[in-house]
Amino acid sequence: QQIELGGYEHFMLKEIMEQPESLRNCFRGRLDHREGRVVLGGLSKYTRDLVRAKRFIVTAQGTAYHAGLIGEYLLEDLAKVPARAAYASEFRYRNPIIEDASVILAISQSGETADTLAALREARERGALALGVVNQVGSTISRETDAGVYLHVGPEIGVASTKAFVGQVAVLTLIALYVGRRKFLAADVLAHYIDQLEKLPDHIQTVLKQSDHIRDCVEKVVDRDNWLFLGRGYNYPVALEGALKLKEISYIHAEGMPAAEMKHGPIALIDEGMPVVFIAPRGSQYDKVISNIEEVKARGGRIIAVATEGDEEINRYADFVFRVPDVPEPLQPLVTVVPLQLLAYHGAVLRGQDVDKPRNLAKSVTVE
Ligand code: G6P
Repeated sequence: QQIELGGYEHFMLKEIMEQPESLRNCFRGRLDHREGRVVLGGLSKYTRDLVRAKRFIVTAQGTAYHAGLIGEYLLEDLAKVPARAAYASEFRYRNPIIEDASVILAISQSGETADTLAALREARERGALALGVVNQVGSTISRETDAGVYLHVGPEIGVASTKAFVGQVAVLTLIALYVGRRKFLAADVLAHYIDQLEKLPDHIQTVLKQSDHIRDCVEKVVDRDNWLFLGRGYNYPVALEGALKLKEISYIHAEGMPAAEMKHGPIALIDEGMPVVFIAPRGSQYDKVISNIEEVKARGGRIIAVATEGDEEINRYADFVFRVPDVPEPLQPLVTVVPLQLLAYHGAVLRGQDVDKPRNLAKSVTVE
C-alpha cells in the first residue's frame, strides 16, 4: 500500500494531486487540434442518432450525479439539445416517459451502481439510446450500453470521488462539443474550446499549488459544524459537490444550493462566523454572486470565495480567497471544484478523520 500511495498520506490526496495527469490521459487522442475535431471513437457508430436526439436524460448517483447536472448545462449550452439530470433512484421508479429520439446517458465511476444500472435498463427498454460515461473498463454499465466514453483516469481508490468527477465533467464537455459541432457550433468556436481544454491540466496544477494556503484557511474555521456552499450556473452543481465532499469525509454538515435560493430560507441559518463558501469566478453571473456575498457578510458569515486570478474586487468581501485561472464559463467546474476537494481533504485531516475510510460509506453501492 505504501508503494501505491507514492509518498502521499492518503489515496484521496494522491488522486486530487494527480488530476492534471489523469485529465491528460482522459483527453489523450480525443482533442484533434490540427483538424479541429473532438474524437470520440466509442460514439462514432451513433453520431447520427446523437445529432438527431431530441432529449438527453443524464442519470447517476452521488458525485456522478453532480457531474450529470453539469452535463445538463453543457448539453443545452453547447449542443442545444434539451437535457435533464435525474437521480437514477428516482427516475427508475417514476414510470418515466421516454419520448422518441431520447438518449439515456448513465454516469458511473465504478459502472456497478445498482440504481444507475436499473435506470439505464428501464430507459433502454422504453426505446432510448443508451450511453455510458464510465471509468471502470468492462463494468456492468459499460457492457449494457449501446455506446460510451471511458474516463481513462485510472483506478480511483479514495472513497470520496475526486479525479473521477473531473474526468466525468471533462467527458461530458467533449460529448457536448462533439454533438454541438455537428449541429451549429462554428469551427473556430470549437477550436477555441480545444485550445482551452488542452490548457486545463496545467491550470489544475496551478490550483493545486494552493494546498497549504487552503489548509491554513480551513484551520481557522474547521471547528464550525454547519457550512453553506453557494454558486450559480455552471458552478451551482460545483456547490453541491463541494458540500458533499465536506460531509463525506469530515462529517461537517454542509448544504450546497444555487446562490439565489439562499434568500428563500437558508439565509435564516447565517449567524456570526458561519462559513459560507461562494464559487464566484468571473462570468455572466458574477455581479449577482457578489450581491449574495454582501448579504451573507452583512449577517456575520465568514466568506470563503473561489475566485478568478486577478480579481481584486473579491478581496473586499471575502475572508479567504482560493484562486482559479480564467477559463470559459462552460469549463469553470473543472477548475473551481479543485480547491473544494482540497478544502474537504484538509478539513477532514484537521478534524482527525480517516479520509480513506469514511464511516458508513462504500466506494460503490451495488444494492438499492
Ligand atoms: C458511492 C460513492 C460515491 C459515488 C457514488 C456513485 O456513494 O461513495 O463517491 O459518487 O457511489 O458511484 P459510481 O461508481 O456510480 O460513480
